[in-house]
Amino acid sequence: MLRMLRSRVWRAALVATMAPRLADLIPGHYDSSPRTSRRDFLRWTVVGASTFFLAEAAAGFVAFFWPTKIGKFGGTIPLKRADIPAPGAAPVVNRDGKFWLINNEDGALALYWKCTHLGCTVPWNAPADQFQCPCHGSIYDRHGVRIAGPAPRPLDLMAITVTGDQVIVDTSAITQRTAFNPGQAVKLST
Ligand code: FES
Repeated sequence: MLRMLRSRVWRAALVATMAPRLADLIPGHYDSSPRTSRRDFLRWTVVGASTFFLAEAAAGFVAFFWPTKIGKFGGTIPLKRADIPAPGAAPVVNRDGKFWLINNEDGALALYWKCTHLGCTVPWNAPADQFQCPCHGSIYDRHGVRIAGPAPRPLDLMAITVTGDQVIVDTSAITQRTAFNPGQAVKLST
């Protein structure tokens, strides 16, 4: 009996000694007592801030030297004044830039060829003097304004700038609009 009692006491002592160490081996168990010293905290704060600063500087460097797209959709399309159709003439398509260049009495417009309904490419219908979307029948006039069909707004505009003899269409600068006003057109004096 005494021996049994002694054995139980010994086992209890052993369990009491090993329990905290075994608990450390259980996944998910952690000791909540503070372990990070103030020095470690400051060190990691400085390392984190320096890493963030260097990453930002590297991103700015790459962005600065990244080649600008020229002559493709998403970049600028350089044209000559001679490429602009005469006022009242049929628009000219620019496939690289995905736009129609049209010249009206108010001035020139670069109309993004994507239908504002569901995005089909909108062709020009010369006999009707209109842009007619083949997908669901939206129709746009020479200013790109919707005159029929389910399209919710006019064709979007791309920015045109004129410098000397050069006309630049910026296909990254696309503007949505609800109507046409003459301020959207770019006058090209001859
Ligand atoms: S995509 Fe042009 S009318 Fe639907």
